[in-house]
Amino acid sequence: MTGPLVLGIESSCDETGVGIVRGHTLLADAVASSVEEHARFGGVVPEVASRAHLEAMVPMIEAACREAEIRLDDLDAIAVTAGPGLAGALLVGVAAAKALSVALGKPLYGVNHLAAHVAVDVVEHGALAEPTMAMLVSGGHSSLLLVPDVTNDVRSLGSTIDDAAGEAFDKVARVLGLPFPGGPQVDRVSREGNSAFVAFPRGLTSGRDMERHRFDFSFSGLKTSVARWVDARERAGEPVPVADVAASFQEAVVDVLTRKAVLACREYGVNDLLIGGGVAANTRLRAMAQERCDTAGIRLRVPRPGLCTDNGAMVAALGAAMVARGRVPSALDLPADSSMPVTLVQV
Ligand code: KG4
Ligand code: ZN
Repeated sequence: MTGPLVLGIESSCDETGVGIVRGHTLLADAVASSVEEHARFGGVVPEVASRAHLEAMVPMIEAACREAEIRLDDLDAIAVTAGPGLAGALLVGVAAAKALSVALGKPLYGVNHLAAHVAVDVVEHGALAEPTMAMLVSGGHSSLLLVPDVTNDVRSLGSTIDDAAGEAFDKVARVLGLPFPGGPQVDRVSREGNSAFVAFPRGLTSGRDMERHRFDFSFSGLKTSVARWVDARERAGEPVPVADVAASFQEAVVDVLTRKAVLACREYGVNDLLIGGGVAANTRLRAMAQERCDTAGIRLRVPRPGLCTDNGAMVAALGAAMVARGRVPSALDLPADSSMPVTLVQV
């Protein structure tokens, strides 16, 4: 086991994650989630998330050190998500990371949450191909990224122009009467459904849109069209076939995502596609991506579901890559940047 020993802290949304890696080896991945506290509101409440981070931070740091069987003194560096995310939630992680850095006298790296979603796959599948095409799909973001070097060169090819993919899953689940967060529920009920039951629209795939928004996504029209379809059924006094509608919606999302990701790989001559973020846990997305990549001769990498959702290991993995590449640490007064652009890997 070689490489820098790095502790990573993630607190951009509703997961308090503390991970420890040595080079490409995952030693600990402690995650506490406040998702249940948000469920009755149907979405993440920022203040509730911040308070939960405050309560969970120290226990998660201790749990990670125990799991990794290391002492804080052994660390080579600390890494933390500096953005993007909820401002108050980010601040808790950034403050904790600064405190550790000062108390231990170890370098601090404030990193981008999205780049961390890409970097995490090294702990499962080894070094990233350079360049890698990355599609990140989660509750807060949907982007297609060309990644020549995850430690300092991430280029945005496209992103959602309205709802994020996970947001669409969550909203459609609500329309179908499924609990929050809806993504895993839609995934589950869809297994019993007919994905060809309704031909829902594929956003931004028509000729004109493919010129102006080639690698962008749009899911808000799809969400509205599912809501209208369900509403019409209910008005007619007919039962809503939840599994069939869920499967048809999921098929529309997954079709567009995989089609554009494969097209981007072809056009940029990239042979490696990585899919990350919470929605990458989706069974149908993983299956269709695999089929289409096989056909196109593209190698597909998708981290296991536990590494796709937010966690500290991803931040530690990116931190370790930065140390290994000799990147300069961040200043101790680094900010939490809630709207940190995806192209900025480190603050
Ligand atoms: O990456 P993540 O944990 O947090 C954000 O940074 O947003 O992603 C959470 C999102 C939620 O919208 C959730 O519904 C969705 O990922 N999600 C899924 C699945 N598991 C989680 N969406 C579709 N299918 C799944 N199996
Ligand atoms: Zn995320």
